[in-house]
Amino acid sequence: MSKGQKLLKRAKKIIPGGNQLLSKRSEIFLPGQWPSYYKKAKGSKVWDLDNKIYNDFAGMGVTTCILGYADKDVNNAVKKAINNSSMNTLNSYEEVELAEKLIDLHPWAEQVRFARTGGEACAIAIRLARAATGKNVVLFCGYHGWHDWYLSANLKKNSLDNQLLPGLEPKGVPKTLKRTAYPFNVNDTNSFKKAVQMFKGKIAAIIMEPVRSDPPNMQFIRNVRATAKKIGSVFIFDEITSGFRETIGGYHLKLKVNPDVAILSKAMSNGFPSSAIIGKKSVMDQAQNTFVSSCMWTERIGFVAALATMKKMKKKNVVKDLISHGKIIKRGWLKASKLAKLDIKVAGIDPIPQFSFNYNNNDEIATYFIQEMKNSGFLANTRLGTTYAYNKKIISRYLESCEEIFEKISRFIKSEKSLPLNGPIRHNTFKRLI
Ligand SMILES: Cc1ncc(COP(=O)(O)O)c(C=O)c1O
Repeated sequence: MSKGQKLLKRAKKIIPGGNQLLSKRSEIFLPGQWPSYYKKAKGSKVWDLDNKIYNDFAGMGVTTCILGYADKDVNNAVKKAINNSSMNTLNSYEEVELAEKLIDLHPWAEQVRFARTGGEACAIAIRLARAATGKNVVLFCGYHGWHDWYLSANLKKNSLDNQLLPGLEPKGVPKTLKRTAYPFNVNDTNSFKKAVQMFKGKIAAIIMEPVRSDPPNMQFIRNVRATAKKIGSVFIFDEITSGFRETIGGYHLKLKVNPDVAILSKAMSNGFPSSAIIGKKSVMDQAQNTFVSSCMWTERIGFVAALATMKKMKKKNVVKDLISHGKIIKRGWLKASKLAKLDIKVAGIDPIPQFSFNYNNNDEIATYFIQEMKNSGFLANTRLGTTYAYNKKIISRYLESCEEIFEKISRFIKSEKSLPLNGPIRHNTFKRLI
């Protein structure tokens, strides 16, 4: 057993669920075989506890590290901040610089608040929207974190099942929150209309991502935006995953649709914890009327890392690389599937490309793919986030391995033999771990 798997066994006894993030669970990738823990990482390379080296084509830190792991420029800025004290009785001046920078990048926004994680930033935005409108109900599309306001949607059975993460349990969420958050489906005007009708006069906020796996449907987005305005609800773009990939800032800059509030995180600071809620003064200023406050939101590293990340993105035209790497990878998957005569579907914006197998035993095939990619020296998944740290050579090597493994999968499918897995099939959702 690898050192990582041994440690995970110990961890599961004292850390319920094994770690803090569902999407990082080893069971989501390769149960019993995933390296699970890292010693160090640089660029796109990761060293596990047994000193095995992998190239990361599995998301680069849940799509946070757009510049690469341990980026020299961001790390130097952070190290300087640490040497000059990252915590203090006084505020770090960089928070004002970053707020000004974000307003500069998003001229429709007038004010900014900072937090540390995406989910809590969503919770702040929802609180401010409810305070600004005096209404309770939130209409949402997609995933927006673990907080009560969101999970309460599943008090009505399985409401979240069409919203990226099926199977989320709302145990512990007060039952009195039932019917305070209600989903609509992406690019589905009827489901949106129905939700608006159902909660007429009670809707505080409408929150969605500007883009996820499907290309944005501009008519749908414009309609949601216009409806929010008409019914006096706060329109929020959750840009936690979409931001800082095709633009320096929110993806909505590309769509030319301005929300009332936008939430940024993840790639903004190349993996250092930070999130920002940016928005119109009429909503943001509610932070003076309702209590949102936290000690660690004042800590310096997130601000400094975000400023350094944006500076480098601009200087090196990082967006161009993130997009072109993604295009090459998508083309490569399609070519590999054609050669192997495998039925796959490719989707996602170019910097966060994804594919899915189109068979009855998709999870089994995906597990085999991840297993074999790992044996070829890649941390892999069926979805990834591109990074500036990739180069043509490593992408070619990755795609060569994809071709070989797609070919093997195809042979097994044709022969109707089961795939030779060295462990259980991966999980595709939230469930208790044994
Ligand atoms: C769109 C979206 N919203 C919210 C979140 C939650 O962010 P965090 O995991 O930082 O709390 C995520 C995380 O993946 C996300 O993709």
